[in-house]
Amino acid sequence: MTIPNSVKIVEVGPRDGLQNEAQSVPVEVKIVLIEKLVDAGLPVVESGAFVSPKWVPQMAASDEVFKGIHKRADVTYPMLVPNMKGLDAALAAGVEEIAIFAAASETFSQKNINCSIGESIERLRRVTEKASAENLRIRGYISCVLGCPYEGEVSLDTVAEVAARLLDQGCYEISLGDTTGVGTPAKAQAMVERVSGVVPVNQLAAHFHDTYGQGLANLHAVLQCGISVIDSSVAGLGGCPYAKGASGNVATEDVLYMLDGMQIETGVDMQKLLEAGRYINEFLGRETASRAALALTWK
Ligand code: HMG
Ligand code: MG
Repeated sequence: MTIPNSVKIVEVGPRDGLQNEAQSVPVEVKIVLIEKLVDAGLPVVESGAFVSPKWVPQMAASDEVFKGIHKRADVTYPMLVPNMKGLDAALAAGVEEIAIFAAASETFSQKNINCSIGESIERLRRVTEKASAENLRIRGYISCVLGCPYEGEVSLDTVAEVAARLLDQGCYEISLGDTTGVGTPAKAQAMVERVSGVVPVNQLAAHFHDTYGQGLANLHAVLQCGISVIDSSVAGLGGCPYAKGASGNVATEDVLYMLDGMQIETGVDMQKLLEAGRYINEFLGRETASRAALALTWK
């Protein structure tokens, strides 16, 4: 398998990043951040979540965020949806693409969405049936594909089985989540090779958190397996509220620096991306978690 010559970067910072911030970020700030990311050339910006505000208060008012964005026809703005209530909220807001999520670990599934893997797949079936009938595009996530914070090792058979079920429910793409960033390159490759036996590799995405500093190495490894869609978070924002100690996704600036260096086309402008990162870091009053952003800023 040769490395792809172009990669689609899916920016998840406004959802995956901000869902885990201690301080709440106002609607207007989220909208400016999303528009700056789009202006930088990111083709997909996950913009919020219609989840229970009791579980994840940072994602409350996601409908206002979605409605407030000046949308561009060539950009998609998926919103995370866990159940029918979330889907109805997404439809009411005029969302065109949703992201659904399941886990490859039973304990994580219970902690994150309060039900077993099997129950979640059943719950999602109702969601995806209605979403398809409403002509929504559906992206699917699987958490804990390279390990679970509660159970440790996760079976690749389970990852592949959940992936096949999500594909069967109409997901156009399955994003493979290393939720706590525990994976290492050879393991990441073995996982992608196993899952691409049931889902074509051009319908898979890598969603790697950088908790153990392995994010870029793991991405480089799975590029060799033909992965051409990478999820990342500007400034390395974020984590997962139900995976203690999980830090943010691999930083978009770091991913872009690597891909630019490999002459892999993304359509993303580094200077504008740095500006989006600076904007949100300034609001949050924190240093960027992106090594590339730090180095390029002081250059
Ligand atoms: P539950 O408590 O079992 O649900 O939570 P319920 O149906 O019994 O409802 C409880 C209350 O929540 C009710 O309100 C519902 O109306 C309300 P009450 O009657 O008590 O006032 N409710 C909702 N409100 C707004 N929007 C909704 C909604 N649903 C119920 N959609 C539930 C089940 C799934 C709702 C809950 O567990 C939940 O919201 N979990 C979300 C967890 C989450 O957002 N996690 C982070 C995202 S996943 C992630 O980060 C991983 C990923 O990045 C990939 C990776 O890295 O691995 C995607
Ligand atoms: Mg995540």
